[in-house]
Amino acid sequence: MILQLKNLTKLFDKDNGIENVNLDIKEGEFITILGPSGCGKTTTLNLIGGFLKADSGDIVLEGRSILNLPPEKRPLSTVFQSYALFPHMNLIENVSYGVRFSRNERKKKAQGIAQEYIDIVGLSGYEKSMVGNLSGGQQQRVALARSMATKPKLLLLDEPLSNLDAGLRVKMREELKELQKKFNITMVFVTHDQEEALSLSDRIVVMDKGHVVQVDTPENIYFSPINEYIGSFIGKSNIIKNNQGEKILIRPENINIKLNQNGKYQIKSKKFMGQYTEYSIVKDDICLDVNLIGKETGSYNIGDLVDIEILHQVSI
Ligand SMILES: Nc1ncnc2c1ncn2[C@@H]1O[C@H](COP(=O)(O)OP(=O)(O)OP(=O)(O)O)[C@@H](O)[C@H]1O
Ligand SMILES: [Mg+2]
Repeated sequence: MILQLKNLTKLFDKDNGIENVNLDIKEGEFITILGPSGCGKTTTLNLIGGFLKADSGDIVLEGRSILNLPPEKRPLSTVFQSYALFPHMNLIENVSYGVRFSRNERKKKAQGIAQEYIDIVGLSGYEKSMVGNLSGGQQQRVALARSMATKPKLLLLDEPLSNLDAGLRVKMREELKELQKKFNITMVFVTHDQEEALSLSDRIVVMDKGHVVQVDTPENIYFSPINEYIGSFIGKSNIIKNNQGEKILIRPENINIKLNQNGKYQIKSKKFMGQYTEYSIVKDDICLDVNLIGKETGSYNIGDLVDIEILHQVSI
């Protein structure tokens, strides 16, 4: 275990902050903290980074408590939600600064290493630009390069891709995953973006109102959410009661429909989404969303009567 959070608590007031957060992170793991705005993601990272003082609990890195160490003594690096770059320095100085001091490299060598990471984040040609003159997305990439260039054992990333356009976002997330694997860096990554969380993570930590609700692999979080909050926060879901009165969750892609003149469900709406067709079907007061892929399954019409087949469901 590289990092352990033990009953970690930091309350700004009774409703804001985090309470009794427990988490064990393995070396080389990509852990994502996911949750709505204000649930305590940044607070958790800031506690690990040492930028906030915990009320109680412990933070153990490689078997040693780091709770009382100042940020600069903690062997980790942080990409802040607000970038926190040095505005009076140009790009290459920003990126090489950390390399010089954390890796104890001479200026020339540090600049060579910095250049490698500037190329990785696609900012070659901007080396001499003052970071204050760069766009938000460019500054975000400088912050990423600066942290990765120090090759920390533990990298904390607070929404590091949020200001990038869709294409660059996907490219940068692939780079990030590759670097993580190559250097076996443990990453604690914060995001609002479900797709990012599902595609990048070894495990996802879903938080709500300062508490950890579920920690599991992306597959289990998606297909076996432990409660309604997780099920409706990640992906689309149908939550209904079965014949025994238990609540069950069914993903829209896990329902098949078949035309039948005596079918119990009726198609109420239809939307063509390209990769799939989204139907809404109703029976009495039950309404289900159904997503079907393939050209044939896009041919049903509003008003058609259908039977359903449920391919996967979970009790919640
Ligand atoms: N320094 C502070 N003083 C008082 N309250 C704070 C402070 N920092 C955070 N909070 C409150 O604690 C809660 C958790 O904040 P935090 O920044 O951890 O949320 P977050 O999950 O990172 O949200 P977002 O997704 O919007 O970045 C919020 O309600 C916030 O208003
Ligand atoms: Mg935040």
